[in-house]
Amino acid sequence: MTDSIKRLEKEYRKFVSEGIELNMERGWPCREQLDLSMPMLDLVTSDTDLCLENDYRGYAGTAGIAPLKKLFAEVLQVTEEQIYIGGTMSTTIMYDLINKAVLFGFDGFLPWKDFPGKVKFLCPSPGYEKHFNICKTFGIEMIQIPMNDSGPDMDLVENLVKNDDSIKGIWCVPLYSNPTGIIYSDETVCRLARMQSKAADFRIMWDNAYCVHHLTDEEYRIINIIDECAKCGHPNRVFEFTSTSKITFPGGGVGVCASSVDNIKWLTRTSLLQLKSGDKINQLRHAKFFPTVQSLRDHMKKHRDIIKPKFDLVDLVLHEQLDGWDVAEWINPKGGYFINLKLLNGMARDVWQKCKDAGLSITPAGSTFPYGEDREDAYLRLAPTYPSMEELEQAMQLLCIAIKISYTEKH
Ligand SMILES: Cc1ncc(COP(=O)(O)O)c(C=O)c1O
Repeated sequence: MTDSIKRLEKEYRKFVSEGIELNMERGWPCREQLDLSMPMLDLVTSDTDLCLENDYRGYAGTAGIAPLKKLFAEVLQVTEEQIYIGGTMSTTIMYDLINKAVLFGFDGFLPWKDFPGKVKFLCPSPGYEKHFNICKTFGIEMIQIPMNDSGPDMDLVENLVKNDDSIKGIWCVPLYSNPTGIIYSDETVCRLARMQSKAADFRIMWDNAYCVHHLTDEEYRIINIIDECAKCGHPNRVFEFTSTSKITFPGGGVGVCASSVDNIKWLTRTSLLQLKSGDKINQLRHAKFFPTVQSLRDHMKKHRDIIKPKFDLVDLVLHEQLDGWDVAEWINPKGGYFINLKLLNGMARDVWQKCKDAGLSITPAGSTFPYGEDREDAYLRLAPTYPSMEELEQAMQLLCIAIKISYTEKH
């Protein structure tokens, strides 16, 4: 810890005076990643035979086209009848399911709006802020659940769910979790499937957004929670989600839900009015671009070649700058889109503000917690994919200076 505060402040002021604008806020694919999918746009033309199934040009085909269902059935290890392909992204389906549960109730159950008292959701934290914002939008009370290295604190989850019928669900990002990067253990998955819930309409929102987003040669795979739930007598407990947002184009991709056959039938039936049919022509583009799971894996390897050096750069700068300071903990994740930086308590907001004042945007401190409340004020989420390597290097140097100044001021 040889840097003097004066030197650090001088370096910091240099950043401020340069008027830089850097963004490490959103987990967005960068330009080179988006370029990878441009050839997909040439795969459907006016010469393409679209008179397949019930004619892809028409209204029929509410839950998606057969070849794409087949692809995702294989990816998620379910049958094609267990797949629903909705609009262009998975968040739409998640939002819609909660909306349906509140207004109409899950198949045969009381609408949550008519439940006497507040409906609650378990929110493993730090977690994905959009999940929490969906709960907030619908007035669902959020209960923070600490995250361990193998998933949420399952003793606490089991205990709460067993005794409280107002707890209606849990959000999970089981593989390369946003933002911690952790991978749920088999035991965690089995306990979630097996546990007794006081609410008969308790649901696991299994957001497998990063199921093919590996950053190492070990392509981790989570055991199939849909099967586990069925084996344990809870066939309708889980809705699983994924999408091609970070495979092809965010907003121009496909959103996927997998569940029991009954749940998929119910979802399809109750969606008819709002989305008679998704964009089947875009679905066909995707099905042609990914004729096999292997072609999807090969494509994801190209993404990895672009973004893995960025994760390594973040890890390298953090080590170079902060080793010996005992101020931060992180892991270089094996997949996904984020690095979760845990600072000493009481530092996250201050560091975030210092970065912002010098022109670097990071996801606001606290936003990976329900109600934006990180009680320890310790967590920052870093998203390295979007900036260029040069921008990232600069952003990381600035972040580390901000951390050192904040630490020195406080201690
Ligand atoms: C865990 C998780 N789920 C879902 C999404 C977004 O998915 P989509 O674009 O399909 O709505 C993200 C994006 O950052 C995410 O991190």
